[in-house]
Amino acid sequence: MHSQEINGQYDTSFIRDTIQGLSAFPKSLQSKYFYDDRGSIIFQQIMNLDDYYLTNSETEIFEKYSREILRYIIPNKDFHLIELGCGDGIKTKILLEHLVANHTNFTFVPIDISELSIQSLSDDLRSEIPNLKIEPYIGDYLETLDRLHNDKNFDTLPRMVLFLGSNLGNFSHSETNDFLSRLSGDLNEGDQFLIGLDLVKNPHTIRRAYDDSEGITKEFNLNLLRRMNLELGSNFDLKQFEHYTYYDIRNQEVLSFLVSTQDQDVQFESFDKIFHFEKWEKIFMERSHKYTLEDINILAQTHGFEILENFLDSREYFCNSLWRKR
Ligand code: TRP
Repeated sequence: MHSQEINGQYDTSFIRDTIQGLSAFPKSLQSKYFYDDRGSIIFQQIMNLDDYYLTNSETEIFEKYSREILRYIIPNKDFHLIELGCGDGIKTKILLEHLVANHTNFTFVPIDISELSIQSLSDDLRSEIPNLKIEPYIGDYLETLDRLHNDKNFDTLPRMVLFLGSNLGNFSHSETNDFLSRLSGDLNEGDQFLIGLDLVKNPHTIRRAYDDSEGITKEFNLNLLRRMNLELGSNFDLKQFEHYTYYDIRNQEVLSFLVSTQDQDVQFESFDKIFHFEKWEKIFMERSHKYTLEDINILAQTHGFEILENFLDSREYFCNSLWRKR
């Protein structure tokens, strides 16, 4: 019996979401569970792939435009710089160095579901930028954001919220609207939101980013099955699943699946349930939506934001859009 003891709220929602996803038709799993320690490390490898242009493009924007981005912050006024889903925080470090060098008063509040990511980012920043005030949170970023909003000490200072890496693209249409409404409700007038979004471009370029030749993205997807084996006591045979990805140009999104290559049963010890997979049955793993500048405009307007400025990399692959809450 290798499944972990189930007592924390996190494990309970992992079980609940897994049962719900694998009982549905078509079967699906939630991508927030990709990021256990091993998943977070594989994701860092993805970000280093040449084919995965998103990280390079966004880093280029930060290197080129940090000064312009921060120009909108009120000088010398204390504020919170909150990052939702910070991961390894390499891009953010560019902004932080800039802010600290300009003696701006602020506290950096990184929020991430991966304890490993938060831990290594915090250690890293404490040694590299010793003057930085940092207040990290481990958890689901929407829940954490709501909690912070209801915290009186927190709500009085201006905020800049970062949501990078085109993470919004992993939400469905209705999740996107829920997220932006909730965020908008958690912000005060004048608060800023910097969102990184992957732009519509050559569809071949887009597809390659999610189906790399080294098979790292495949490993990343299969890792969720491995994680369920470890934490929920399931017996997925990883060799009996194929990774398949395509770009749906009509809906502007990459869709990723794991496909069962056999007729098979998978058993979960922790909640005593068996799920059947037909041969070639799919599990929907994730979407990665792509945006036009007009799409971004509509998203901002619809949710009570004005766009202060759009920052693009030299290839015009990616956009960091700076919004202000009205
Ligand atoms: N949000 C990013 C994207 O959509 C990163 C990401 C999330 C990702 N899940 C992924 C990248 C799966 C590759 C595969 O690109």
